This record gives sequence, structure tokens and C-alpha cells, in this order.
Amino acid sequence: MKTAIQSVTARRVWDSRGRPTVEVEIALAGGARGRAIAPAGASTGSGEAVDLRDGGAPQGGMDVTKALAGIAAEIAPALAGLDATDQSAVDRALIDLDGTPNKGRLGGNALIASSMAAAHAAAAGVGLPLWRYLAGGAPGRVPLPEIQIFGGGAHAGRRIDIQDLMVIAVGAGDFATALDWTAEVYRAAGKLLAEQGKLAGVADEGGFWPVFSSNEEALSTLVRAIEQAGFRPGEHVAVSLDIAASEFGENGRYRLDRENRTLSRDEMIDMLLGWTKRYPIVSIEDPLAEDDEAGLVAFTKAAGEKIQIIGDDFLVTNAARVRHAASVGACNAVLIKPNQAGTLTETRAALEAAREAGYSAVVSARSGETEDVTIVHLAVGWGVPQLRVGSFTRSERMAKWNEGLRLSEALPTGGALPPRSSLPWGRP
Ligand code: PGA
Repeated sequence: MKTAIQSVTARRVWDSRGRPTVEVEIALAGGARGRAIAPAGASTGSGEAVDLRDGGAPQGGMDVTKALAGIAAEIAPALAGLDATDQSAVDRALIDLDGTPNKGRLGGNALIASSMAAAHAAAAGVGLPLWRYLAGGAPGRVPLPEIQIFGGGAHAGRRIDIQDLMVIAVGAGDFATALDWTAEVYRAAGKLLAEQGKLAGVADEGGFWPVFSSNEEALSTLVRAIEQAGFRPGEHVAVSLDIAASEFGENGRYRLDRENRTLSRDEMIDMLLGWTKRYPIVSIEDPLAEDDEAGLVAFTKAAGEKIQIIGDDFLVTNAARVRHAASVGACNAVLIKPNQAGTLTETRAALEAAREAGYSAVVSARSGETEDVTIVHLAVGWGVPQLRVGSFTRSERMAKWNEGLRLSEALPTGGALPPRSSLPWGRP
């Protein structure tokens, strides 16, 4: 069989934070090869697959030699001979071999790199680009980009409490235009900061380092940047926030260090609802902490008709959690991060659960990334309507946007974005 897995090899490569990470390369009997690199989160949900890191002093404890050893000693022999085009069999073997609920024995990093490398090898083996292989006959479509302008939270030394201030070019008709508009906003934001003497480099995902005196100042500056770039806020370009509230909230209390105050759940919800009234916000991710289901339900009830409410730490790309959230009315969209799940099969299951629940979905990169562009193919091939990969600078981010441009040329639908009516803020 040409698509039988012949060899699995791992190498230690480096991510965008200069930390070691895992690359897996799979060769098939017919000669095709596939390769993928594990990304890494910094603000991680407690329910996600955990990476296997060496600990100790070298590389700040972040080295991956144990994960590489596990691939050589266990994963390679277990996958040998399996048909790479049978992704669920490959992933089942990985899950069974690891044997832990959080994939901590062999490492989520080892598993996701192996799982994605198998998909790449399979696509090469049948002579298709990855997106088309994953689409299985569906036309595929480029996703609407969600792009970071200011970074914060765990990605910027907690300089502001909220983690990401992003834009979505809701008025753009195609992928390339969405990028053009975002580039103008990013440039305008940089100019604004420079004029105010507040230009201080970039955060982990390449968004500007947030030298603001309050969370809301970041928001108002973003809206000004949209205007100064020549766009109508909300109509052409809207605001999307990742609060990442699990980073500063626990037991229904929310500590805003930047503003030196602690909010109750209700006060936190009121603050966010106030923002949604004063600013053109179309999407909020993790508005409340992962342990605050009651808060998420209350916020979804209050704002979910008009605004996209994404679960990241709360849902951790887990189908069972998505089904539970839908049953209680928490969130209306799910963030899809393959390394939270640990395998592509489980990632796909979370997406299917979202579809069954009527939830929207956003494929997402991590704050620690590389040149690997697998997630763009997942978004296109699986027909996921939105994609977020960080800012509009730095090549680990731009590699993904640029791949989206290439796929726009290859797709039967060209660069056409999902229709507004199919997105949470465009529903009648
Ligand atoms: P993370 O950040 O990779 O550190 O979790 C990505 C995000 O903002 O969701």
C-alpha cells in the first residue's frame, strides 16, 4: 500500500518565542512525505492537552528532548504500517498509546505534530494539497481573518489585563481586501502610538505592546486607529476582543491589575456590556473565566444575540465540552486549536459538535508559533468561517495570511469570504 506509514522521525526545532518545539516528519511506502510542527500556548486552559517538556534548568525547562524520545521509541513503531489516509486510526493509535486523559505521558506536542504530519503525508500520498484532501470533495472556502492590533495579558507581561485587541474586516468582500484593510489599521495604530510617545515594541503575537493606562484606553485607541486608517468602525472594520479572563479571574472574582480593582462576576459582565454599547465590538472571547460557567451563561444570555461569544479556555477544542456548553447556553462559538485537542480527529469532532449546536467556529494559532501553516488548510478544507493567527507582523503570523492568499487563488470560490449572514453578527 503506497500510503502505509514507513517511518516517523522527529526533530527539535524552535518556535517564535525562541523555545524548542517538536517537528515530526512521516514518510510513506510510496515515497510521499509530510511534516508538521507543534505550536505552544502561554495562556492555556486547564482542560487542554499538555505538552511534554523536560523541566530543569536548560531552556527554562521548556526543552522537548523527552517528547522526541517518546516519538522515536513508541510513536514511530506504533504508527508503522498504518494507512496514513485513515486519520482516525492513526489518531486512535496515538491516543491509546499515550493512555492519559491529558496526553501528558507522550505529550500533546508529540501527538499533534504526529497527527498533523500524517495528514500532510496522506495528502501528498494521494497527490492533493492538504486543504483539498481535508475537504473531501467540498468546495472549501477562505475564512474571515481576525487580526491582532494590540497584544496584552500573558503575552505582554500583563501590561494590560485583556489579552488581545483585534480587528475583523467585516465589510471586506474577499480575503485579500480584509488583509489590505487590516494592514492600514495596523499602520495607523503604530502611528498613533508613536505620536503619543507610546510605541514600545510588540507583544508575543506581534501586536503593539500596550502602553495604556486602562483597558478601555486600549479600546478607544483601537477605534481611533480604524478611523484614521479611513474606515467606518463597525461597518468596514469591527473590533474583536479576547479577554482571556481565566488569567485574572477565579471563583467569580476578577482582578484588574492595571486598574487596581477587583470586580464581581456581575460587575465584570456590566463592564463588558458597557464596552459593547460604546464600541463596535462584534466578538468577545473568554469574557469570563473557565471556572465561571454561570457567568458565561449570563453573559451569553445578555449579549449572545448580537455578539459572537467564543469559548477558548472553557471549551478547549473538546467535543464533549462544546455539547455541554450548548446544553446550558454558554458561548455561541468555539475556538479551534488543534494542539488543545491533541489530534486532528478530536479537533474535527469539536468542530462537528459546534456545527450541531449551531455554534460558529474560529480556527486559531497559538502565541508560540512557527512557519507551519497547517491550520490555514484546516480552516479552508473544513470550511471553518473564521481564522485568527495573531497580528499582522512577524513571519510566523504572516506565513499563515500569505498561505490564505495562495489558497484564495486555488479555490473554486476564489478569495470570497463567508457571507455576512452566516456569521454571528450578521444573522437576521
Ligand atoms: P495562547 O494564546 O496560545 O497563549 O493560548 C492564543 C489566544 O490568544 O487564544
